Amino acid sequence: MSNIVVVGTQWGDEGKGKVVDLLTAKVDLVVRFQGGNNAGHTLVVDGKQFIFHIIPSGILYEDKKCLIGNGLVVDPEVLLEEIENLKKTGILIGPERLSLSEKAHIIMPYHKAIDLAREAAKGKAKLGTTGRGIGPCYEDKISRSGVRAVDLTEPEILEEKVRENLKEKNFLLEKFLGAEPLEPQPILDSYLAMGEKLAPFITDVSVELEQALKAQKGILFEGAQGTHLDIDHGTYPYVTSSNPVAGTACSGAGIGPKQLHHVVGIVKAYTTRVGAGPFVTELEDETGDYIQEQGKEFGATTGRRRRCGWLDLVVVRDSVRLNGLDSLAITKLDVLTGLKSLKICVGYEIDGERVDSRPASLKRMAACKPLYEELPGWQDNISGAREVDQLPEEARAYIKAIENITEIPASIISVGPGREETIIVKYPC
Ligand code: GDP
Ligand code: IMO
Ligand code: MG
Repeated sequence: MSNIVVVGTQWGDEGKGKVVDLLTAKVDLVVRFQGGNNAGHTLVVDGKQFIFHIIPSGILYEDKKCLIGNGLVVDPEVLLEEIENLKKTGILIGPERLSLSEKAHIIMPYHKAIDLAREAAKGKAKLGTTGRGIGPCYEDKISRSGVRAVDLTEPEILEEKVRENLKEKNFLLEKFLGAEPLEPQPILDSYLAMGEKLAPFITDVSVELEQALKAQKGILFEGAQGTHLDIDHGTYPYVTSSNPVAGTACSGAGIGPKQLHHVVGIVKAYTTRVGAGPFVTELEDETGDYIQEQGKEFGATTGRRRRCGWLDLVVVRDSVRLNGLDSLAITKLDVLTGLKSLKICVGYEIDGERVDSRPASLKRMAACKPLYEELPGWQDNISGAREVDQLPEEARAYIKAIENITEIPASIISVGPGREETIIVKYPC
């Protein structure tokens, strides 16, 4: 059985959730390996919409196991709320369907408070984070003062950590950020109560994966965010605090690199980004508004309007290299229907010089002018297409251009939000 990694190739919201849900049919387990509830993954199944922030997007399949890897930062309140919401729709989630790594880090109230206070203090220069405490939680992980899932089950350890951490956090909140300090006891009470509820799910995910691999089971590794939000490879500092690239599937789930067999890069047929940061192909005109409206481009986590622009293949080509992509899943192709002509960015120009990969310097990024290839658009609704041949010639030419420029074949083409609104060119697993 082959194992597959699904990653975003742009700035997130490419449609990873939909593709993961679809591919879950072909595997036995689905694992998330990084990020937290900054992610918002939307699935539409039998006309019903589900949005997951922490729970892997494979959860709607009763007979599949979902796992939350050590690479995540988990807000226990959000996780319990997602379990509860699923219960309301008749889907009961017990430990046989969901595991939480004992090593995953826990988002604490002071992480959220610091995230929000820092953004407020930055004013206009803010990064536009989701305000969920993601960055501050990863900071504590790296500085070795974080709280891990296992600590929620060991009251003395949790108490010691929270009291110790609050000394420094309250100093920062009060004296530097001008925010309210936090009391330890209410935090301890609520986190221990949540720990009791989560205890049955907390386990060694790496060992569970090892057993699955020995039993020849197929595993799907679900990425969150996108390659250009990567803390190392993204548009730093306008990035998230984890590594959404495919390599993290190993460290963030606890398996070795030889276990990854196919990496699918999700490419939205145009580009979007939420929050601040460079965006060379951004459209601040009526075409941008058209795409935003047709694509219903509002953040699934914060409800913010997503910035929209033409497809930037410099960004996608970087992602081919950074993730070792084997195939592409091209999503939201239907959103481009109705546009007379379409542009694809194939390179940048900086002061008259051509550049083929995204520069790290923000100054050079700001100077980048997009080099476009123009293609004719199509007018007919394509959401009913289930085979490539059923697409208009212009849509096929658009896909071909993406394949030619990235030198990677498309395995999946998505023509609507529904699970069934998909063209499978070739199953990647
Ligand atoms: P993710 O974060 O990568 O999982 O993406 P999001 O769920 O945040 O955003 C993608 C949005 O587009 C969701 O609302 C999906 O339901 C929707 N979507 C996914 N694929 C398609 C598609 O092919 N066409 C259209 N119109 N919508 C899609
Ligand atoms: P999914 O998994 C789009 C962006 C935020 C902000 C930056 C840093 O749904 O694709 P953070 O709260 O992570 O510190 O914010 O990263 N961001 C996302 N943008 N999709 C996401 O996830 C994102 N997760 C974080 O908007 O610009
Ligand atoms: Mg999203």
